[in-house]
Amino acid sequence: MDKKLNIAQTSEILGISNATVRNWIRHDYLSPLNIDSELFFDHNEVATLKKDIENGKIVRLNKRANKRNSDKKFIPKEYSGNNNIDIDINNISSFVTKSSLSINEAIFFLSINLLQREDLLHYSYFDELLTFNKGLFKNKYIQVILEDFYNSIQNFSLDKKYEELLEKKIPTHNDILGLIYQSLKSEGEKAKHGSYYTPKEIVTEIISDYVKDNQKILDPCCGTGQFLLIASDSISNPRNLFGFDIDPIAVFITKINLVLKYKPIDFYPNITCKDTLLDYDSSPLFSSEEQFDLILTNPPWGLHFENGTLGTLKSLFPHIKSIESFSYFLSKSIEMLNDGGILSFILPESILNIKVHSDIRNTILKNTSIKKIKKLGRAFTNVFTNVIRIDLSKKVVEENHKLEIISDSSYFIFQNRFLSNPDLIFDIDVNDFDSSIIEKVFARSFTTLKNNAEWALGIVTGDNNKFIHTTKEGGYEEIYKGKDVNKYFLSTPNNFIKFEPEKFQQVAPEEKYRANEKLIYKFISNKLVFAYDDKQKLTLNSANILIPKIDNYPTKVVLSLLNSSLYQFIYLKKFNTIKVLRGNLEELPLPLFSKTKNSEIVNLVDKVLAKDIDANVIDNYVFELFGITFTEIEHIKNSI
Ligand SMILES: C[S@@+](CC[C@H](N)C(=O)[O-])C[C@H]1O[C@@H](n2cnc3c(N)ncnc32)[C@H](O)[C@@H]1O
Repeated sequence: MDKKLNIAQTSEILGISNATVRNWIRHDYLSPLNIDSELFFDHNEVATLKKDIENGKIVRLNKRANKRNSDKKFIPKEYSGNNNIDIDINNISSFVTKSSLSINEAIFFLSINLLQREDLLHYSYFDELLTFNKGLFKNKYIQVILEDFYNSIQNFSLDKKYEELLEKKIPTHNDILGLIYQSLKSEGEKAKHGSYYTPKEIVTEIISDYVKDNQKILDPCCGTGQFLLIASDSISNPRNLFGFDIDPIAVFITKINLVLKYKPIDFYPNITCKDTLLDYDSSPLFSSEEQFDLILTNPPWGLHFENGTLGTLKSLFPHIKSIESFSYFLSKSIEMLNDGGILSFILPESILNIKVHSDIRNTILKNTSIKKIKKLGRAFTNVFTNVIRIDLSKKVVEENHKLEIISDSSYFIFQNRFLSNPDLIFDIDVNDFDSSIIEKVFARSFTTLKNNAEWALGIVTGDNNKFIHTTKEGGYEEIYKGKDVNKYFLSTPNNFIKFEPEKFQQVAPEEKYRANEKLIYKFISNKLVFAYDDKQKLTLNSANILIPKIDNYPTKVVLSLLNSSLYQFIYLKKFNTIKVLRGNLEELPLPLFSKTKNSEIVNLVDKVLAKDIDANVIDNYVFELFGITFTEIEHIKNSI
C-alpha cells in the first residue's frame, strides 16, 4: 500500500467528505504532509485515526464518519425555527413513510394541496387533477410546471393513497415544502449532495444588506430557493430572480414557492435543473453573456466528484487545484457577475486559512474587493463545521481598501495585507494593530526552519504499562512526556525505559534522540513550550524533537525566540491551534542577527539554564530586539 494518501483516498477510508477532512485538519485530528499545494496524508496516521474512531476512542468523530451512510432523518431546527411547525411536519413525514410514498410523489401532492389552498388551482374530484386540464389552473404556467414535474416521475400511477396528502394540514412557513423535503431526505442523501439549506436569519441579513428592486439576482445552487424567496420581498418582477440546481425536486419546489409568492403574476420562474458547474453555458434560460448584479448562495461543500466529472472540472477550472466544490462554485460565480456586482457566499471557515484553499483565495484577491467577512459559528444542525459569510464585489481592489470583519467584535482591515501572507491566508483574527506588531518581526531578513531542521516524534511504545517504569532499574534511562516539558527545562524525570527500539510501535532513528543538542517541545499545547537538551534524552510521543540545522544560527537563539511571549503571540494570531505543528513552526521567521547579537542571546540562555537569571529577562530582551513598544507589549500580554 502506498504510504501517502491524497484527500480523496483519505475521505474514502474514513467515510467522510473532503470538506470534513479539511475540518479535521483544522481541528488537528489529521495532520497533512503538506506536499506542494495538494494535500497528502500519512497512511499510518489515517489508519490509526480510523481505528480510534471505530474503537470509540474519538466518539464525536464517529458520528461524523458515518454520516454519508446515515439514513437518519431530522428537521433542521435552524430552518424551521418553530416547534409547532415541527409537529405538523413530523405528522406529514410519518404518513409519507408509512404509506411507502416516494419523496417526489409526496412533494407533488403537497404542492397541489398548497396551490389549492392559495386559490391557484381548482379541481372537483381526484381523477380530474391529472388531466392537467387548463381550466383547473388560475395561471397557465402553473399547469406547465406541474405537468413537467409529473411527467418526470417514474412509475407513477394514480392511487387513492395520495388523497390524504391533499387534505393534510400544511403549516405556514415561507418554504414549507422545502422543510418537508428536508425532513424526508436521509442525512446520507443530504451529505452526498451538500444539501444543507440556509437558515432564514442568515439569508435575511444578506438580502437586507444588498437587494434592491430591478437587480438581477442568481442563486447558482438554489436548493428550494430560500435566497430567492426572501429576495422576492424587495423584487417586484419575478423574472429578475434566477436559480439553478442539480436536484429536480428542489427545482420544482423553488418554482412552486415563487409562483405562490408572486400569486397575481402569471410567469414561468427562471429556475432550471442543471449542473451549474458543467452545463451553465448550455442552459436555454441563460446565455453565456448573461451577467448578474447579485449572486447569493450557500454552495455545496466537499462534494465527491466521479472521475469523469472531475476530469472535466479540472479542465474547466485549471486554477482550482483543491478540487473543492465550493471553490468551483465561487470561481464560476465571480465569472457570472457584472462588473461591480456583489456576491455573498456561506462557506466553511477553513476557506480562510487552510493551505489547500490558497487557490480560491488567489482568485478572490485577483478579481474582487472583499467587502465583509462575518463569522457565523456552527450554523447548521449536525454539521460540525464553523461557518462564515464572505461578501465580494467584482472590481479590482484599491490600494487602501479595507474590509469589515465581524466576529466577537467588528473592525476593518486592509485587504492587501493578505497578499504578503504565505499561502494568502485570510488571517482575519489579526486586526491591524496585531498585524503591525507581527510585521515588525517579519520586516527583518529572516530564515525559517523549513528544510533547515531535523524533526522527530517521541516514542510510541505500544504498551506504556509494560515498557515504562517509575523507578530507574538497571539498563533503564529517563524518558520525558509532554507534561515534563517546561520552557527551557525538563522536569525531574519520573519515567524510565529500556531503549529497545525493535520492540516499540513507533520510534525515530536513534541519532535524533542522541543529537548533541536538541529542543524538546510539548506537542498538544496552545502554548509554545520548548526545553533545551544536550544530554541525549528520550521522549514519548507527547513530546517532539526539533534539531535546528542552520549555519551560524545557534540552537539556543531558536530556543529563546520560540519560548518568547512575542512568538507566542504570533503563533496564536496566525495559527490558533491546540497542537504545536511542524508545518506552523516552519513558517515562523528566524531573523538573521549579527554574530554579536547571537552571542549575547546565547549568553542569556546559558544564564537561564544555569538558573542565574529568570527567563523573563530573555522575554524582555526579545521585545527589545524587535523594537516592540510598551503599549504593544501590554497588548501582547493581554492577548496570550
Ligand atoms: C447547501 S445547499 C444550498 C441551497 C440553497 N442555496 C440555500 O442556501 O438554502 C447546496 C445545493 O447545491 C445543489 N448542487 C449540488 N451540486 C450542484 C451542481 N453541480 N449544480 C447545481 N446545483 C448543485 C444541491 O442540490 C443543493 O441544493
